[in-house]
Amino acid sequence: MSHPAFSRTKACVFDAYGTLFDVHSAVRNGGAALGDKAAAVSETWRVKQLEYTWLRSLMGAYVDFWQVTRDGLDYAFAAHGVEDDRLADELMALYLGLDAYPEVAECLAALKDAGLMTAILSNGSPGMLNSAVASAKIQGPLDHIFSVEDVGIFKPDPRVYQSAVDGLGVAPDEICFLSSNAWDAHAASHFGFRVAWVNRFKRERERLPKDPAAEIQNLLELPPLLGI
Ligand code: 2OP
Repeated sequence: MSHPAFSRTKACVFDAYGTLFDVHSAVRNGGAALGDKAAAVSETWRVKQLEYTWLRSLMGAYVDFWQVTRDGLDYAFAAHGVEDDRLADELMALYLGLDAYPEVAECLAALKDAGLMTAILSNGSPGMLNSAVASAKIQGPLDHIFSVEDVGIFKPDPRVYQSAVDGLGVAPDEICFLSSNAWDAHAASHFGFRVAWVNRFKRERERLPKDPAAEIQNLLELPPLLGI
């Protein structure tokens, strides 16, 4: 049954990393040499990558997400006592072809069949996003890829969410926004999107303003929310 919060939906806009693409697949697919440190390195990498986006935004010191991702990886290697430049280069290369979550293609196809617009809105640089989308073979059902690169600041700055409104030419409440990153879900909801938090990792709700309108476990639960 459709959810009333999403009755005006004209476009579905997806966060990329963690929502469409599994950020831990780089270490899973190419980090065997890390042995029993692999999971911890991958976790620290992601945490520092996100911290650096927030801190650089506050500092007014934007660099693109490729650089931030490399900086996060370098920190993670140092923190876990790993010295291997070649492995770091290989893991960065794998970030260009992260695994998509298994239900992504089916979800996007259902949205397109229902006549909805689809887009990504991500911290990723255009090159990173285009590579990941091509590698996952999901460029067909995606109408737009919006990158913070055009805004010059990272999420959750409201100007980033506004860039999707401008790019799609619809009102904020006509956008259904999907993110597995709870902070991104709250910020998008605060901005004015109708948000479904994809709580893939069964996390606690954040204590931040503006709860998302809905919570789902994976993207196969999205079409029913929209009455598809
Ligand atoms: C993205 O913008 C936050 O990782 C997240 O894709």
